[in-house]
Amino acid sequence: MFMNKTNTAFPENFIWGAATAAYQIEGAWDADGKGLSIWDVFCMRPGKIDGGQTGKIACDHYHRWKEDVKLMAELGLKSYRFSISWPRVLPEGRGGVNEKGLSFYEGLVEALLENGIQPLPTLFHWDLPHELYCRGGWLNRDIAGWFAEYAALMAARLGDRVSTWCTINEIGNIGGLGHHLGIHAPGLSLGSLDYFRLAHHLNLAHGFGMAALRSNSKLRARIGQAANVNVCIPKSDSAAAIETARIETFAFNPANPCWSPHLWNEPLFTGTYSEEIHAHFGNALSVVKEGDMAAISAPMDYFGWNYYQDWNQPHQCAGEPVSMIKWKVQPEGLYWGTKFFYERYKLPVQILENGLASMDWITVERTVPDVMRIDFIKRHLIELHRAISEGIDVEAYYYWSLFDNMEWSAAYTMRFGLIHVDYPTQTRTPKQSFDWYRNVIRSNGASLTA
Ligand code: FCB
Repeated sequence: MFMNKTNTAFPENFIWGAATAAYQIEGAWDADGKGLSIWDVFCMRPGKIDGGQTGKIACDHYHRWKEDVKLMAELGLKSYRFSISWPRVLPEGRGGVNEKGLSFYEGLVEALLENGIQPLPTLFHWDLPHELYCRGGWLNRDIAGWFAEYAALMAARLGDRVSTWCTINEIGNIGGLGHHLGIHAPGLSLGSLDYFRLAHHLNLAHGFGMAALRSNSKLRARIGQAANVNVCIPKSDSAAAIETARIETFAFNPANPCWSPHLWNEPLFTGTYSEEIHAHFGNALSVVKEGDMAAISAPMDYFGWNYYQDWNQPHQCAGEPVSMIKWKVQPEGLYWGTKFFYERYKLPVQILENGLASMDWITVERTVPDVMRIDFIKRHLIELHRAISEGIDVEAYYYWSLFDNMEWSAAYTMRFGLIHVDYPTQTRTPKQSFDWYRNVIRSNGASLTA
């Protein structure tokens, strides 16, 4: 499709961002009174992480954040999405506050604002305090209240400067990867009774956390989640294929209940668990108490979505584009998901993650020519713009990730960043995509088709 220059100008005030998460970049795993998280502990288990690696140092962002904020300013970011390490501010998950940990985030937020970058903190990006895990973790109903206490603390300390929040990152993957497949911390594989309990407590934590953020923030808080709900991409452009894809996107698939939108996403909007969930999980639903669903479905301010690929579509032919993490490159999914979710949930959409894993290195000329990343982002932004030009309210796009970092159980075997990190020396080298994205931001998208 031909697009002229003005076609890809994005809305005024569009939020151009980049994202990271605490465990993947901060390092300083035991510095200044930080408590252990389940990821610190999971990495100690033999065979769980590629090469026996850990996030003990990662990008050492905890010590290098000033240099890192300078890079963000150079990039011209409008917003930076990062996560707060719960055990860094509350080493035991609740109770005693670690002031040093808190002041790290206060300093970061201050520095971002001084550079005109809006902070978007995620309260929970998977690094649960180990102490809370020992008290039953997400299987203990009390955790919803513990999460609310933590949210209240963060709102009280940052809510005069932070206006946009994300409660939980990829709630479905906390279930599916951490408590079903067991390939993420805490490495469990629950049966269906416990699995529903876990899901309900996570949903409840989101609801209670949201209420705590609202009532403890000075600024009017805008709150959402970073959902990892799947989009089914239509097999053709026919009206029938589009309708089939829409129906599949929101359907309950009994063969794959662990990531079901009926478990993680729909209840936030409908205020109820569907008939299919009742049929599948049966007695497990007795954990739902009066008032829970109202808390869970309290209105959010935006629909946050992390998009990488259509997880339901198998690889179709040998040699199709795929990234280092073996995910397909399907830019059109960004269009379809944004459209389907906006039409159904009627909230402005924020793309909170989208990015490419590759194997970049620094050339002898000391550049990182990551042209495939540039092409990846370009294709996705063109699809996002297509949604916008059809009247869909899209507020933000956050590239994952600002830096190369610790990719969970795949550790350091792949690189997602706009900035290359040489781990032994901690040298940061902006890649070619960094300069390219800076131009996209500067031109508010117009440079995409220039
Ligand atoms: C997402 C996670 C993020 C990162 C990317 C590649 O599922 O939210 O932390 O690992 O995948």
